[in-house]
Amino acid sequence: MRLDFFTLFPQWFEWFESQRHVHNAVAAGSELRYLDLRATTPLSAGQVDDSPYGGGAGMVMRVDVIDAALQAAYGDARGGRRIVLLTPSGRMFDDGLATELAAEPELSLICGRYEGVDERVRDHLVTDAVSIGRYVLAGGELAAMVVADAVLRKLPGSLGHADSALEESYSSALDGDPEYPHYTRPPTYRGWEIPEVLVSGDHARVRDWRRARSRERGGPREDRA
Ligand code: 6GU
Repeated sequence: MRLDFFTLFPQWFEWFESQRHVHNAVAAGSELRYLDLRATTPLSAGQVDDSPYGGGAGMVMRVDVIDAALQAAYGDARGGRRIVLLTPSGRMFDDGLATELAAEPELSLICGRYEGVDERVRDHLVTDAVSIGRYVLAGGELAAMVVADAVLRKLPGSLGHADSALEESYSSALDGDPEYPHYTRPPTYRGWEIPEVLVSGDHARVRDWRRARSRERGGPREDRA
C-alpha cells in the first residue's frame, strides 16, 4: 500500500513509524509518506488557516491549502485513490472500514486542525470523511494514526503470525463480536485459576467455549443468526 499523511506536524509520526507492525508493513513493500501542508501552501509565511465566514471562535483550514498539497503530490492524476479527511463529523471508523481501506492500493489521510476544515474540502477534494469516535481531538493526527494502525496491521506480513488478524475482536470471523478471553502461564496465580476447558485438549470444546465467551461480551444483537 502507498499511504500518504497530509499534516502540519510530520514529526509526530516518527513514533508511529517506529512500531514493529508499521516497520514490517514497510519491509513488506508498503510506502509511507508524510507531507507537510506548510511546505506547499500557496499563502505567504506558511499560512494554512483563516477566520470563519459568519464569525465565531477559532480558525478554519483553507481549501486552497489542501488543494495545493494534493496537487503537489498527485497533480490531476488522482485516479481511484481513496482520499480520507479525518474529522469528528465523519463516518465512524470500525473494523469493516479498516478492512475496506486495507484493500486499497493507494490511500491518503488528511489531518484536520484548528476548529475545522473548509467544507469545500469535503465536498470537492476527498472521497471520504472519517471519525474515530464521538469526542473531539485537537487535530486529526492521532485519528490518522489510529486509522493507519488498524489498516496496516491487516496487510500481509505486518503481524508476526499470519492468522493474528483473522480471528480477533470485531472481525467477521467472530461475527463482529469482541475477542474471547486469553490466558497463559501460570495456570494458578494467587488462587486465580484458568478455565479448565483450555487445558482439556478437546479442540471442539475450546472452540465452542471461545465462541460463547465472545458472544457474551458482544451482548444481545438483533442481527445475529
Ligand atoms: Cl478524525 N478528528 C478530530 N479532530 N477529532 C476527532 C476525530 C477526528 N475523531 C474523533 N474525534
